Amino acid sequence: MTADLLIVGSGFFGLTIADRCARELGLQVQVIDRRDHLGGNAYTEVEPETGIEVHRYGAHLFHTSNQRVWDYVNQFTDFTPYQHRVYTTYRGEVFSMPINLGTINQFNRSAFTPAEARAWVAEQASMLTGEPANFEEKAISLIGQPLYEAFIKGYTAKQWQTDPRELSAEIISRLPVRYTYDNRYFSDTYEGLPVDGYTAWLERMADHPNITVTLEADFFDETQPHHKAATVGQVPIVYTGPVDRYFDFAHGDLSWRTLDFETEVLPVGDFQGTTVMNYADTDIDYTRIHEFRHFHPERDYPADKTVIMREFSRFAEHSDEPYYPINTPQDRERLLAYRELAKGEADVLFGGRLGTYQYLDMHMAIGSALSMYDNKLAPHFRDGKAFA
Ligand code: FDA
Repeated sequence: MTADLLIVGSGFFGLTIADRCARELGLQVQVIDRRDHLGGNAYTEVEPETGIEVHRYGAHLFHTSNQRVWDYVNQFTDFTPYQHRVYTTYRGEVFSMPINLGTINQFNRSAFTPAEARAWVAEQASMLTGEPANFEEKAISLIGQPLYEAFIKGYTAKQWQTDPRELSAEIISRLPVRYTYDNRYFSDTYEGLPVDGYTAWLERMADHPNITVTLEADFFDETQPHHKAATVGQVPIVYTGPVDRYFDFAHGDLSWRTLDFETEVLPVGDFQGTTVMNYADTDIDYTRIHEFRHFHPERDYPADKTVIMREFSRFAEHSDEPYYPINTPQDRERLLAYRELAKGEADVLFGGRLGTYQYLDMHMAIGSALSMYDNKLAPHFRDGKAFA
């Protein structure tokens, strides 16, 4: 093959590497992706009937406190001033999330000061004594039974399709409670949405004469020119697909949660008045509803139609899209075994959320790709240091 570098996967991790290596080092970069579009899970598309931008793999909100990442991404896109806020419906009433002073006062029909609310939560939390033995006990020890029962229990049961008493206490170390009326979801320095959408941003990253993106090209499909057996050992590779798949599941599958999405165009101008509404009750199957028009109030979207997407959560099977690593003790053992195998691959670097089996926000995926560029790729291509 003629390229200097092969990148498997065109998500934020792969495209950041492609951009740096093409624009900074002048390398010829070949990117492949098994999907029919670039951009990985951040990809968005326009719903044809309404013109509304839909996030196909779940809502993506950009936020970061990393100055380098913020400066980097601003080369490719401007951002709107969107600030994310989430609400939850519980027993026919809408509360603001994450739990804050407004949530607590609405829940108790009270006018607690911050100190009074703090004392109330501490008193509720202290009712559980001894070491928490499962998720439910851990959550109660953090925020007390009433808030747990209302806002965490049903939602968690739906997310995991498991009774929270059967989930490990390890899943949570903290549950955010704010003793102010600040109901912003993120507290990062920078937050916003790409003015022309995610896909335009991702396409600009790949738009360089030295970068070739080939879609519908699976690295494990031997009929493809850039498949594994034809390229490993022949060209340096950055691999951002699932690490267990790379090694043919030699140490077993790493477990993931996946999501199912149900998208619908409705003949109303506004369905729920906000971008994301969680549903805490277990008699409703979905965990949340996204309404995409509210991500871009500045756009000229139709006044009589809207697009909503219901989200359902479950354990992933082999053929499902992997979304959130479950990270059981067995997964951690297997991951260590895969990392050992990865050390033996002299021409391959593993990165991104699938290649490292980690949940990474977009700014983290971009930040870790910039670090891989600094620490591995630039030293290799500029100074002849070992690749992996
Ligand atoms: P990503 O998964 O995007 O890309 C990997 C690419 O590799 C894919 O395009 C895949 O097709 C390709 N690939 C895999 N195997 C292959 C093979 N064998 N051959 C060829 N190609 C292959 N972050 C955030 O900051 N704010 C948010 O609001 C959200 N929201 C959010 C919601 C949901 C539901 C999820 C699951 C995730 C988020 N994220 C997020 C996280 C965000 O999606 C994540 O940071 C990026 O997708 C990471 O980019 P990567 O390039 O690592 O993976």
